[in-house]
Order: sequence, then structure tokens, then C-alpha cells
Amino acid sequence: MRVLITGGAGFIGSQTLLQLLGEQHEICVLDNYSNSSPMVFERVAMLSNSAFELVEGDVRDRDTLAKIFEGFRPEAVIHFAGLKAVGESTTFPIRYYENNMLGTATLLQAMDAVQCRQIVFSSSATVYGVPKYLPYDEAHPCIPTSPYGRTKYFIEEMIRDWSAATPTASAVILRYFNPVGAHSSGIIGEDPNDIPNNLMPYISQVAVGKLSKLQVFGNDYDTRDGTGLRDYIHVVDLARAHLNSIDYVAGSAGVETFNIGTGEGATVLEVIQAFEAASGQTIPYEINQRRPGDIAAFYANPAKAHNLLDWRAKFNLANMCRDAWNWQSKNPDGYVQGPK
Ligand SMILES: NC(=O)c1ccc[n+]([C@@H]2O[C@H](COP(=O)([O-])OP(=O)(O)OC[C@H]3O[C@@H](n4cnc5c(N)ncnc54)[C@H](O)[C@@H]3O)[C@@H](O)[C@H]2O)c1
Repeated sequence: MRVLITGGAGFIGSQTLLQLLGEQHEICVLDNYSNSSPMVFERVAMLSNSAFELVEGDVRDRDTLAKIFEGFRPEAVIHFAGLKAVGESTTFPIRYYENNMLGTATLLQAMDAVQCRQIVFSSSATVYGVPKYLPYDEAHPCIPTSPYGRTKYFIEEMIRDWSAATPTASAVILRYFNPVGAHSSGIIGEDPNDIPNNLMPYISQVAVGKLSKLQVFGNDYDTRDGTGLRDYIHVVDLARAHLNSIDYVAGSAGVETFNIGTGEGATVLEVIQAFEAASGQTIPYEINQRRPGDIAAFYANPAKAHNLLDWRAKFNLANMCRDAWNWQSKNPDGYVQGPK
């Protein structure tokens, strides 16, 4: 299939690109490199031994999109492009609304112009907000607590409205839990531009000596050891969910929403221990106050993805830590240099 990947230079997009190339799909990637580096593509090309089209541009730019849709003529779109930092979204909410929502509206219009009707969208478990019950299933109420989470929820609604008005449209909305890890080769992985916002890349950078210690926010939550519990999902498993989703949209109409997680949670202290075991490094950490707005625990009920997408996670926390460490230790400065 001819697939356009927006945001394909990013952490999850690049892993998905590699897997789609492995299945002989024809790919065009659109990215503005606002949170990534085009250097990732040399590595994807090396791993896949395949060619693909690259367009440097913005998903909000109608002309760029028109050229892609008229030239490459994608049959389906996987839409990763977006800003994703929850904390930053509270400081710059309009930047998030503009980039994420206007980007998606412009993309759907460009798709309509050429009758491209299939989309897979990167949503997030943050759309659920404070858990009313756990595990979250897809019917759990959506009351997101940050501007970032609201952009994801509003985009989901936009896609549902688009689909309702377009009988031949087919959309899959994937609500990711906490993606971590890297390709097992250590050649592509997560390369945050700044100090990492998320736990695993932060731990990786402590392990490799770039950061001195980890701050653990709160050890008095109602969890196994008092620290926050999340559903970590290996990025390679997550990327594979997009392959199943591309097949799914090709054979269906309407919109389906799926949780993509393992269904099991790990606490911050459990992640530290697993990372220490995988890396042989000690991770210094310090217990701090809870952060306002943090949720004690959440994890997925992934049964719907098991049943309808025929997808389930294969990798466990030890695998995630092994691959994150392999990537970080081979690429301490990310994509700046070639892998060691
Ligand atoms: N990583 C996570 O923890 C997580 C969890 C849930 C959902 N998501 C969502 O998954 C998607 C991919 O996440 P990721 O972790 O790979 O993030 P990422 O930042 O690594 O990748 C996003 C890519 O989109 C590009 N981009 C951003 N705005 C753009 C625009 N206007 N035009 C063109 N390109 C643009 C960035 O340069 C980057 O390459 C995002 O939509 C994110 O919100 C991520």
C-alpha cells in the first residue's frame, strides 16, 4: 500500500517506518524536524535496505500536502506529527492547539481533495484523565487534564465527525500508553531534544552519565511501593500495532479506537530496578514531593486490540530496558554521531 507517514522522523514514526518498509509498503514521510533529526533516515535506510520518499515540510502547510497527495497519491495516512509534552502544553497551550488540531484539520482536507479515506491516528491514554476505574477500557469517560490531552481528544472527535460525513472513510485511533525502548539493533531509538520529560529516557541518560540523578515524584501513592505506576509498552510492539491498523482500515469503514498497552503496570522503583539489572549501572535517585496533577496509577485493558486488531504486546519490561540501554549506550548523544 502507498502510505504517507506524518512525523515519521520521530521516536514512534521511525520505528513504524522501518516495519512498514519490511512489509514492502511504499512510503512517503512528511516531517518538519521540529522534534527530530533527518539523520534517522540514513539509519532506517541502512536497516531496511529500502528506499522511501522524504518531504521536509509542515503538516499545516496546504501546498506541501497538495503536492504530496497529487504526486505520491497515498492510499492511507499514519498521522504521528504533533507536539507531545504534557508540561509544555500547559505553558504554551495555543502552540499545541495550533500545531496538533490545525495540522490534523489541514491533513483531513488534503485527504478529502483526492478521496484518500484511510487514516491511523496517534492518540494517547492521557485522553482518559483521572481514572474512574482501572484498567481503562475504551469506553472509559474522556476528561483529559492538560491542553495536550485535550488536543488529542478533540482530534479524535474531529476524526469521528469527518468519518460520519464521509461514509467510505475508515479510521483507527490508537491510544498509546507509555512507549519506551528502542530497536534491538541499537541503531534507532528515542532522542529527546532537551532534558527528557519521560521516565525511561531520563533513566537512560542518568545511566550513561549525562544526568546526575533521577527525581522520583512521590512515594506515598496507593501503589505497590508508593511510586507512580504506568503501563510501559515497547516501541517495537507499538509500531507493529500500526501495521495491523493499516490492514484494518483497508478492510473496514467507520472509526475504531484501541488501547495499545501491555495491560500491566510497573512502578517507578520497578523500572529503576529493571533498568539497573539490564544495564549493570546504578541509577542514583532522590524522592521528591508529588507533582501537582500526576495520577497515581493507570494501565490499559488491551482486549479490544487483541480481538479486533489481532495485536498483542510481545515484549516485557526487561526487554524494554535492555533495548533502551543498548540504544543509549551506543548513541550517548542521540543521532548527532554514528552509532558506536
Ligand atoms: N511518546 C509518547 O509517550 C506518546 C504517547 C502517546 C501519544 N503519542 C503521540 O504519538 C505521536 C508520535 O510521538 P513520538 O513520541 O514519536 O514524538 P516525536 O516528537 O518523536 O515525533 C513527532 C514527529 O512529528 C514531527 N512534527 C511535529 N509537528 C509537526 C508538524 N506541524 N509538521 C510536520 N511534522 C511535525 C516532529 O518533528 C517529530 O519528528 C505524537 O502525535 C504524540 O503525541 C506519543
